[in-house]
Amino acid sequence: MDKLVIEGGVPLRGEVTISGAKNAVLPIMAAALLTPEPCIIHRVPDLSDVKFMGQILRSLGADVQSDGGTMRIQAAQIRGTGDYDLIRKMRGSVCILGPLLGRLREASVSLPGGCVIGARPVDLHLKGFRALGAEVKIESGNVLVSAPRLVGNELFLGGRCGPTVLGTANVMMAATLAEGITIIESAACEPEVVDLANFLNEMGAKITGAGSPTVTIAGVKELHGAEHEVIPDRIEAATFAIAAAVTDGEVTLHGARAGHLQAVLDKLHEAGVRVERKGTDLVVRRGGALQPVDITTQPYAGFPTDVQAQMMALMAMTPGISIITERIFEARFMHVSELARLGVDIALEGPSAIVKGGKPLSGAPVMASDLRASAALVLAGLVARGTTEVHRIYHVDRGYERIDEKLRGLGARIQRMAGS
Ligand code: EPU
Repeated sequence: MDKLVIEGGVPLRGEVTISGAKNAVLPIMAAALLTPEPCIIHRVPDLSDVKFMGQILRSLGADVQSDGGTMRIQAAQIRGTGDYDLIRKMRGSVCILGPLLGRLREASVSLPGGCVIGARPVDLHLKGFRALGAEVKIESGNVLVSAPRLVGNELFLGGRCGPTVLGTANVMMAATLAEGITIIESAACEPEVVDLANFLNEMGAKITGAGSPTVTIAGVKELHGAEHEVIPDRIEAATFAIAAAVTDGEVTLHGARAGHLQAVLDKLHEAGVRVERKGTDLVVRRGGALQPVDITTQPYAGFPTDVQAQMMALMAMTPGISIITERIFEARFMHVSELARLGVDIALEGPSAIVKGGKPLSGAPVMASDLRASAALVLAGLVARGTTEVHRIYHVDRGYERIDEKLRGLGARIQRMAGS
């Protein structure tokens, strides 16, 4: 297994282009199952999760071809059962259920398990399918959904921690081919849901309201092929913005959409980081001394849980006390003990992490536990004195396209090496 070896202490300077959004492209790839015609997707990031999704679609019978950042998917003839082990490996693969149910009226996939960031239930997805008239069974670790007829309905998709992103995507996809009108209340408002809705509309779906808590889908008889460019990855953009701030450098982010990043930019501003808009670019640097901030993660348009760990690396560099309260995945603090190895002073109190920042960090071997946790370790490694080795970087490769190359392009001393 590869590791990243980082010599900290270099202020990052230069320009980086933001890749396509992982969390938009995965459901968009799944949506291609809704039509037998070819779909062309542009700005597809080269990520292991994307490769996984490609394999899953192939295991369902689809033809998937990649050429650079363009992917062609044709699901001329598909079956409703995919490779159990493949699907189990990637939580995001749950979003094949909606399109399979819509197109074939039945699907059977392995129940996605919990993961290191929390329990990750799918009860809301299943509630949504039931509301459309599907029968849902759990048998031998598989979810079986079937519906001789899918009929539009009004449904409430809010849960204990707010709306569900992939649940909204799943129900929206199934409902495109249902009879009549579906209204999803408490729908997720994330830009990735809007991007999916745009793609579905390009395929001939009739969806309005995506990006608001009420999404209306008028079912159609069939969908056709479409061509689409995926939105830039707001989480990658936030990660590089924080990289500029932690290292006290200056980085221009090409193609980051400021409109998708308001909560992060607002907190960065409060933390003493200057973000200037230059056309479609964002230029990020410190504006003076870093200031402690408090953050509570929330569904969009609130502060994203997917940037919480990276923000902790910034807090580690900030003299004073900063507090992060995690409200989406309450156990999402696996990075805390690894950041502590680098010298970060963090105490956990229930769903909150209290960071006493401003102490110098020193490099150490650390273990990545999930995607965003590993990004936080890389960020801390960029400022720690000496050498930091981040092990198990397959987590990073799930969601960051060539992060080592991009950081090297900004001057970071970071190498990918074979390791444990
Ligand atoms: N929830 C339920 N029941 C459900 C579904 C979700 O209670 O049926 C709860 C979850 O336990 C959580 C909350 O609802 O407390 C929100 O979870 P959500 O369903 O929105 O998460 P997701 O759709 O499974 C996506 C992203 C995650 C991101 C979350 C939240 C993809 C592939 N994944 O997951 O991305 O953290 O939304 O924004 O889109 C990542 O990229 O690192 C990542 C984990």
